Amino acid sequence: MKILVLGSGAREHAIVKALIRTGTKPNEITCAPGNGGISQEVNTINLDANNPEAVTAWALDAKTDLVVIGPEAPLAAGVSDALREAGIAVFGPSKAAAALEGSKAFAKDVMAAADVPTGMARKCTSIYEVEDALDEFGAPYVVKADGLAAGKGVIVTNDKTAALDHANSFLSKGMEILVEEFLDGEEVSLFFLADGTSVLPLSPAQDFKRAYDNDEGPNTGGMGAYSPLPWLPEGFVKDVQDRVALPTVRELALLGTPFVGLLYCGLIVTGKGIRVIEFNARFGDPETQVVLRRLQTPLAHLLHSAAVGHLGELPEPEFSKDVAVTVVLASEGYPVTSAPNREITGLVADSEKVEIAHAATKLEDSKLIATGGRVLSVVSTSQTFHQARVQAYNAIKDIMLEGSHYRSDIALKVDEEHNV
Ligand code: AMP
Ligand code: GLY
Repeated sequence: MKILVLGSGAREHAIVKALIRTGTKPNEITCAPGNGGISQEVNTINLDANNPEAVTAWALDAKTDLVVIGPEAPLAAGVSDALREAGIAVFGPSKAAAALEGSKAFAKDVMAAADVPTGMARKCTSIYEVEDALDEFGAPYVVKADGLAAGKGVIVTNDKTAALDHANSFLSKGMEILVEEFLDGEEVSLFFLADGTSVLPLSPAQDFKRAYDNDEGPNTGGMGAYSPLPWLPEGFVKDVQDRVALPTVRELALLGTPFVGLLYCGLIVTGKGIRVIEFNARFGDPETQVVLRRLQTPLAHLLHSAAVGHLGELPEPEFSKDVAVTVVLASEGYPVTSAPNREITGLVADSEKVEIAHAATKLEDSKLIATGGRVLSVVSTSQTFHQARVQAYNAIKDIMLEGSHYRSDIALKVDEEHNV
C-alpha cells in the first residue's frame, strides 16, 4: 500500500515508525514535508502539506493508496476534502467535521445535541461578558480562545486579571472566547479511529501539558506522556466509546459532516464522572508516540479501513502489555520565546527499548539542527514504568542542545503508585 503521511512533527515520525513496525515497507511510505529524523527512514518530499491542490496532484501522480493527515492545519485548509473529491482514500476528517477541534463552540453544540458529558461553558464576544462569566463560575478560571491556537489558547488560573488579559489578547484579534467551569481530576487522552459511522478505541494515554515540573508554568503542546493508564476503572474505554465517541460520530453524521479519521477525546475524570474538556480531529502529540509504540495490529490496515468505511468489520486493535513513556526535549524559551537554530548531538540510535521521534529537526551538511519549539520525543518501553523512565531519562540526559529543557517528572506518579 502506497502511503503519504502529511506533517513534520514527532507525531508523524511516530506514525511512520508504527507503520513500519507493524508491517509497512519503508519504501511504500512518503512523508511531506517530514523532518531530519523522518528523512532518515523514509522518502520525504518538499510539498506544502496545507495546499489542497498540490497535495492532491502529487497523490494522484504517485498513485497513492492512502493519505494520512497528521496535524490540524491541513484539515482546516480542506486538504482531506480535495483528496476525497479526487477519489483518494484519506485518513483525516473533512474541513467541516474538523471544526470539532477548530471551533470549541461548535464542539460544545455537538456535545449538547448528543448528550455527551462536558463542563458548563459560556460563549463571550466582549470583555464584559467574559468578566460576568468568570464571576459566575468562580476560580480557578478557565478561558479558551475559540479557534486553533497550537495549544496556547487556553489559560487556567486563579488570577482574574491574568484571565481577563488572556481573553483580551484573543478578543482583540477578533476571536470569540469560551469561559468554562473548572473541572478537577486526572486527565486522559483517549483516541478513536472513526470511519463516519463506527469507531475503534486505541489505548488510553496521559499527557503532561504544563511546561515545568509539578504541572507548573504555561500550557504547551505537551511535554511528555505515558500509556497505558493502570489507574483507570474497569470499563472506562467502553464507557467513553458508548457515551462520548459514538454519540459524537453519530451526531456529526446526522449533521451531514461524517467524521473519518482520529477522534481525540480529551477527558477529565472528575468526582462526578467523565467529562470531555476538548475534542481534537487528529492524533495527539506526544500521546501518539506512546500509544502507537505499543500498537501490535497493522496500522496501515486500520487507517485504510477507517478511510474507506470498513472499520465496523474489524476487531479492536491490540496493544503490547509493555508500558511506554515519552519525554519531550524543548528548545530554549519554549513555549514563550523561540530559539535560534542550533546543532543537536548525543542522540542514541533506536533500539528495542528507546526510540527518538524527531519534531523540529533538519539535516544540514550531515549535521542535525534543532529549529525551535518541541525538538524531539524520547520514547521508551519496558515492563515497568520505573524501568521505562530510567531508560528515557538516561537517553535524554546525553542529548546536547544549548538551552534545551525537559520535564523530569513524566510518569513519576504512576511509577510510584502503580509500578506493578
Ligand atoms: P484544551 O486546549 O481545551 O485541551 O485545554 C488545555 C489544557 O487546559 C487541558 O489539557 C487541561 O489541562 C486544561 N483545561 C482545559 N479546560 C479545562 C477545564 N474546564 N477545567 C480544568 N482544566 C482545563
Ligand atoms: N497533546 C495534546 C494535543 O495533541 O493536542
